[in-house]
Amino acid sequence: MLLACADGEQDSAVDPLCEDAPVTTYDNFGQGFMLQHCQSCHASTAENRYEAPPEIVFDDEAKVQEHADRILARSTGEQPSMPPQGGVEAADRLRLEQWLLCE
Ligand code: HEC
Repeated sequence: MLLACADGEQDSAVDPLCEDAPVTTYDNFGQGFMLQHCQSCHASTAENRYEAPPEIVFDDEAKVQEHADRILARSTGEQPSMPPQGGVEAADRLRLEQWLLCE
């Protein structure tokens, strides 16, 4: 069901995830979210990456979009595993999903 809007089926009914979603962009949500929760380990300039893979960096919107599938896999859903220490509020995880999946 969640995949319906990722598939870009414009003519089908609006996915429930997206129906009441606030307009969510890199500027009004994504950049701040990634900075606060991910970039301490994933930025290209991070002082200590805690062995985060060198190719997984979220320095700009293009980099985030490039890894959107993996971000969704690791940071949303029933058992999110990024960031490793947890601590992201459910509302923010939902907004992350809306940002990456809804238009
Ligand atoms: C405390 C450091 C740390 C933070 C903060 C962190 N990560 Fe990671 N990340 C890692 C490490 C270490 C790995 C490699 C081990 C692994 O995959 O679990 C990794 C790997 C990844 C990968 C690549 C592996 C895969 O499954 O594709 C993605 C994508 C990722 N992290 C996303 C995120 C996102 C999104 C956030 C913020 C919501 C985040 N990480 C926050 C340390 C961190």
